Amino acid sequence: MSGGERVLVTGATGFLGRHVVESLLRAGCHPVVLVRDERAWAGSLVARRTEVSSAVTVITGSPLDPPNARDPRLDGLRAIVHAAAVVKHSRTVPEDLFPLNVDGTANMVRLARELRARMIFVSTSGTVGCFRDPRGTADEDAPYANELVGRWPYYQSKIKAEEVARDIARKTPVDLVIVRPPVMLGPGDTRFRSTKHVLSVMEQHIPLVPTGGMHFTDVRDVADALARLVAMPTARPIYHLPGTATSLAEFFQMVAEVSGAPVPTRTMPDWALRSATRTVSRIAGGLGLKVPSWVPDPVVAEMASVHWGLSTLWSDQLGYTPRAPRQTLVDTVQYIRAHHPAFAQSRAA
Ligand SMILES: NC(=O)c1ccc[n+]([C@@H]2O[C@H](COP(=O)([O-])OP(=O)(O)OC[C@H]3O[C@@H](n4cnc5c(N)ncnc54)[C@H](OP(=O)(O)O)[C@@H]3O)[C@@H](O)[C@H]2O)c1
Repeated sequence: MSGGERVLVTGATGFLGRHVVESLLRAGCHPVVLVRDERAWAGSLVARRTEVSSAVTVITGSPLDPPNARDPRLDGLRAIVHAAAVVKHSRTVPEDLFPLNVDGTANMVRLARELRARMIFVSTSGTVGCFRDPRGTADEDAPYANELVGRWPYYQSKIKAEEVARDIARKTPVDLVIVRPPVMLGPGDTRFRSTKHVLSVMEQHIPLVPTGGMHFTDVRDVADALARLVAMPTARPIYHLPGTATSLAEFFQMVAEVSGAPVPTRTMPDWALRSATRTVSRIAGGLGLKVPSWVPDPVVAEMASVHWGLSTLWSDQLGYTPRAPRQTLVDTVQYIRAHHPAFAQSRAA
């Protein structure tokens, strides 16, 4: 078992969580991962070809079934990095979305309080940084963007989670830090969820280019910032981790250039796209049919007509400077080409 300060990581089988574990190891910490399925954790190590298993303590459980604060594996815990969440952009959401995202977060804040550990909650830029105007931007003092994102259950759940966490921290002392990254790209998204927009361009599955925006950063830079936050003697209550903001048209063009796929150019007014996706989903739902994967969910279509502006007052304190966006896209494309089933034939050739 490695030495170093212990840090509990939730969501360690996910895209960000696995990078967090690696960043913590590089920083000399001892990650303790809370996973609901040990086989998924073991499988994720094989998928990433990392040799971290012996340096990590595994606890089976979940934020909804948290470990006891007296568990000796949590002795001397320095911090919790809480990255587990159900991330689904739809009005048809899994039944565990609100329980995990809200109650699970509250449980982790209470555990951090009992253990006197820093509670680092990975929220999302979307709780504050969503605008109709492409010039809009939100820093750490910005109010919640309820008017726009309150229509979308995932963002509702993250706002609620932030509110519940802050409420607990107001009533009893907890060193709570909320971190808000935008969309994360980079290698290692085994579910191809966060990197779906990149995959869609590569598969030529972008039927129309919406008028909204995109804001992305590199998952590895977010993970390193979180690891540095663990070690900082004192922290601010909120950190934004802005990346690159573009229109979706520019974003698709950048991905096309990097991947060699054709640039999607066909456009459609936003109202028409929103209404088409709603109609398809209503008809498919009524007939009990599955909506084709290239037809966006109505929530995704609505999100594609707005803009995602994020700025920061102090994330330089975390040594956070995201790498060049082109490098992130090159590495994302390379990972997708090497791992996604759609490219299995070209790999074999
Ligand atoms: N990806 C982005 O672009 C992005 C942007 C902003 C903020 N965020 C936030 O960053 C965090 C990590 O996102 P991600 O992209 O790494 O997500 P991800 O790849 O989908 O991973 C989600 C993690 O949550 C766990 N989880 C899901 N449902 C669970 C449940 N019912 N009980 C216990 N654990 C459960 C998963 O465990 P299993 O392996 O067992 O399913 C997995 O470890 C989330 O809090 C998300 O809100 C993400």
